[in-house]
Amino acid sequence: MLVLGIESSCDETGVALYSTDAGGGLLAHALHSQVRMHEDYGGVVPELASRDHVRRLVPLLRQVLADSGCSLAEIGAVAYTQGPGLAGALLVGAAFAEALAASLGVPTLPVHHLEGHLLSPLLSRNPPRFPFVALLVSGGHSQLMRVVGVGEYELMGETLDDAAGEAFDKTAKLLGLGYPGGPALATLAERGRRDEVRLPRPMLKSGDLNFSFSGLKTAVVTRVRELGAVSDQQRADIARGFQDAIVEVLVSKALRAVSESGLQQLVVAGGVGANRELRRQLDAHSATARIAVFYPELEFCTDNGAMIALAGALRTQAGVPAKPAGAFAVRPRWPLTDT
Ligand code: KG4
Ligand code: ZN
Repeated sequence: MLVLGIESSCDETGVALYSTDAGGGLLAHALHSQVRMHEDYGGVVPELASRDHVRRLVPLLRQVLADSGCSLAEIGAVAYTQGPGLAGALLVGAAFAEALAASLGVPTLPVHHLEGHLLSPLLSRNPPRFPFVALLVSGGHSQLMRVVGVGEYELMGETLDDAAGEAFDKTAKLLGLGYPGGPALATLAERGRRDEVRLPRPMLKSGDLNFSFSGLKTAVVTRVRELGAVSDQQRADIARGFQDAIVEVLVSKALRAVSESGLQQLVVAGGVGANRELRRQLDAHSATARIAVFYPELEFCTDNGAMIALAGALRTQAGVPAKPAGAFAVRPRWPLTDT
């Protein structure tokens, strides 16, 4: 069966075609990022995001059909992100998916966005096998999950306030870097001197697998105030201090989660998974901890349509019934354990 996947939960429009047939897999995927549109505002403007999804969906659908050589008539089901995310942005993708499915006479597969992220490593050339522990670190979420199989996710720990990517973005803003600031802050940190600015490691010794990152941002504000006029080198030192602190906490908790689970595989998903220092530290520790760490390809780390098509396909294969196209609702707030 050919599954069309639609992602529109935030500021990326993603469309993909995934075939469940033998020798199939991901046939094509296309993405439009709205980052440049939101840049001027220092963050995502929900109304602009919704309107841009409207503009992008049809061209992206045409593109994946052309790239895969498939026709609309071959689509057997339409998967789309039902939540969590921005209500208006979700509504655009859901309405598009439901209307298209109704016109084609095929069912729909509403998907949880985080389920897409958790399963995305299965799209890579070197996929992990169930069960594994996933460190999901994006702009909206920071969670440690035990992924037993499709639809079987156990929350091991999560952030009590800001998500890791959100902390990167807010700190980057404080340092005068653009939006989204995570990658820019990471680049600046490469020039920073180790331990020149030592920031707290929030909840490192909390004894559980939860995170808290909002205090780190406050520590940066305080440090910037203390310094008064900040030189370029001092800015880089602060970026380095921030990154070292957040990475140490993420690595320590992720390794602890793997050890507590008794499993040997760790998967890193979500935009912050692109962070080079996080990868360096995880790689360095994984050998001693005797675990294998998996990073999905960058294009599948951040939001994309392929992970939604895959999640829909795997859910049908696992026996979850598809929904008749037509009536629908989106779920802007939706705990993964509630699927
Ligand atoms: O998964 P994602 O694309 O979108 C969400 O679902 O949120 O993650 C985006 C987040 C942003 O906060 C961005 O600043 C962060 O991932 N990010 C990074 C890096 N690349 C992206 N954070 C730190 N270092 C990076 N290299
Ligand atoms: Zn995401």
